[in-house]
Amino acid sequence: MKNFLITGGAGFIGSNFVHYMLAKYPAYKIVVYDKLTYAGRRENLENAEDSPHFAFVQGDICDEKTVAETIQQYNIDSIVNFAAETHVDRSIMNPVDAVQTNLNGAQTLLEAVRNLKLERFHQISTDEVYGAIPAPNRSREGDPFEPRSPYSASKAAAEHLVYSYFVTYNLPVTTTRGSNNIGPYHYPEKAVPLFTTNAMENQPLPIYGDGMQMRDWQYVIDHCEAIDLVLHKGKLGEAYNVGTGVETHNIDMAKKILDILGKPHSLLTYVPDRAGHDRRYALDVSKLRALGWKPSHTFDQALEKTVKWFVANEKWWRPIKSGEYLEYYKKQYVERR
Ligand code: NAD
Ligand code: TYD
Repeated sequence: MKNFLITGGAGFIGSNFVHYMLAKYPAYKIVVYDKLTYAGRRENLENAEDSPHFAFVQGDICDEKTVAETIQQYNIDSIVNFAAETHVDRSIMNPVDAVQTNLNGAQTLLEAVRNLKLERFHQISTDEVYGAIPAPNRSREGDPFEPRSPYSASKAAAEHLVYSYFVTYNLPVTTTRGSNNIGPYHYPEKAVPLFTTNAMENQPLPIYGDGMQMRDWQYVIDHCEAIDLVLHKGKLGEAYNVGTGVETHNIDMAKKILDILGKPHSLLTYVPDRAGHDRRYALDVSKLRALGWKPSHTFDQALEKTVKWFVANEKWWRPIKSGEYLEYYKKQYVERR
């Protein structure tokens, strides 16, 4: 494993992973393969573009021909698949795109790995495949999947396919199931960057339902370290949960953002709940800890670092909050009332 195709590498976690890998492994080649949907941005890769070990290809993971040509052109031996339609609310509005990229796209990549005999396929999955987990339970890797949104169902289906290629074709696969990430380059449709940037603009923070849903927010670089560890030390055919193992209520997360920014709690605004909203995700992360990983950031540290990044990087997020973003915002937050 030294020539990596990073699909979805222009998105939030993918771009952080690219910066992380280029800094840590100067001998590796990193090729980003990304369709550049609304969520993918070349500027997330600005510094990486200067590296002689980096290349960028614009392409769709559902496009069999371009995938195969790129693998051959760059002598790729391993794929890390971040490419996905990742927003639950958008998957509720448009479930077709989620299934197309998250499931059919994953299969196109698996077929390329099979036909071109690559050394590794790593699937980036999510804690959402387990469905809503009532307290005090925690999801372990062997638990059944009960996905409840088009997004999580498409991710769960992809994982089943990945595992079937391991069993049937002996494909060298590994999988990580991450909890919610936060950090630099997070597209401001997701809760933490949305609340942060709205607060900076003195706009309401839209809290779905009663705000008592829980998520395990982890710092994106901690997640990248976990993926790196599983790539190098994980067992083939296995999946690993990645998270802090600590959950926070949405309303508490929103209040903390306002406190960090010195903004009033009166900006908290309750809005209609998301359809089929999963109340709680919670991971048992002992399997990954046994492999030698632990997160370097608590939730408070991760949140403070993230909010400060958005304060320091208005030039990154301000242009995003225009055009298509405003149309989506209107559909999601004004017309849904
Ligand atoms: P993101 O939405 O920020 O980025 C997704 C990237 O994929 C974009 O660059 C987009 O252009 C690209 N893409 C979309 N469709 C494509 C296609 N058909 N072909 C090629 N590229 C395509 O996503 P993210 O938050 O960085 O998530 C990355 C991965 O991590 C996803 O697989 C997601 O399911 C998973 N994940 C995310 C989180 C989270 O908290 N964000 C948590 C767990 C798992
Ligand atoms: P999100 O960032 O969309 O991630 P996910 O749904 O994949 O966990 O949402 C995180 C939590 O915040 C989730 O419980 C939904 C909630 N939420 C709001 O309350 N308001 C919002 O405007 C958004 C986008 C999310």
